[in-house]
Amino acid sequence: MALNRTVTILGTGSYVPEKVVTNDDLAVLVDTSDEWIYSRTGMKERRICAANQATSDLGAEAAKAALKDAGLDAAEIDLLIVATLSPDMFFPSTACFVQDQIGAKNAFCYDLGAACSGFLYALENARAQIACGAVETALVIGAEKMSSFLDWEDRSTCILFGDGAGAAILQARDRGRGLMPAVMGSDGALADLLWTPGGGSRNPISHEMVNRKEHFIQMQGRDVFKHAVTRMGDAVMATLEKNEIAVDEVACFIPHQANIRIIDAIAKRLDVEDRMFSNVEKYANTSSAALAIALDEAAHEGVLKSGDLAVLTVFGSGFTWGASVLEWGENQ
Ligand code: UT7
Repeated sequence: MALNRTVTILGTGSYVPEKVVTNDDLAVLVDTSDEWIYSRTGMKERRICAANQATSDLGAEAAKAALKDAGLDAAEIDLLIVATLSPDMFFPSTACFVQDQIGAKNAFCYDLGAACSGFLYALENARAQIACGAVETALVIGAEKMSSFLDWEDRSTCILFGDGAGAAILQARDRGRGLMPAVMGSDGALADLLWTPGGGSRNPISHEMVNRKEHFIQMQGRDVFKHAVTRMGDAVMATLEKNEIAVDEVACFIPHQANIRIIDAIAKRLDVEDRMFSNVEKYANTSSAALAIALDEAAHEGVLKSGDLAVLTVFGSGFTWGASVLEWGENQ
């Protein structure tokens, strides 16, 4: 018989590298200013990895914090998913490197590629597997070393991103509503608006490709901005409708952290300005880690309280997007 168990987030954790890079620091590298960056994005600073840190190192630290928060041992994890667009290597998966670092020896592990939407996609992936009884305990991580994929001479992209990781532990529970089924979507026809065109099988690594800087992130910012506002707003409304929840019942909205103007536009459209969570000022856009870090901060800074309904929403390259609702609970 097919199961449909309630799945809750048992604990969260996050990690950001020590090195803080301010807007003024960036103004030394490229023709920009604190005034331009802050007024256009809401970002003041971001964290950047040390040279010897890779994405799995960030993910492992976030995972350890989430395990501690949940009161679990790494050996209790059955499923480990890392959402990332900046893997340690093409293969093996970054999830396998994290597994080794934290000692999650009983888990099966894989990476999930949905760019900035990856953490929400991975949460839904894990939720569905737990709900149907395929696994008991999942560790979901969003981790990125974006700094390895940025052209530090391109002011239109290098100022926007940061490094970091966040993690959540999921388990079935027989009370509350937990993490509810998500609404997700994709539109591959718009892939070229935000991508890294070189280095894969379409355009393999060569001196010429590297000279053309196609191994770095490229973005049509204005187009991405418009789609982000529309898709996240629509996804939030769709997931609330799917789960029969009214906007007024939601205590907190936690969106992807790409630009405060995107967040403000969604808040205005939904008329929820007083309930929007943002930390883009501190970390800039950490892609798949952004929602994961924001969720952890909202949980540990007392923004989310037991019994609160929270909405998560994401948008990223692909394009990909989605939204979930969850009922938060202490000691779930
Ligand atoms: O995580 C995935 C989703 N990603 C996003 O959601 C990002 C979405 N896009 C954005 O957040 C915004 O489009 C940006 C922050 C990237 C850009 O803001 P904008 O208001 O759309 O600016 P723009 O690209 O239209 O550029 C305006 C001007 C241009 O100069 P001209 O052509 O008007 O003379 C740019 O060359 O600003 C210039 N500019 C800069 N000036 C100073 C672009 N980057 C910079 C910079 N410093 N760093």
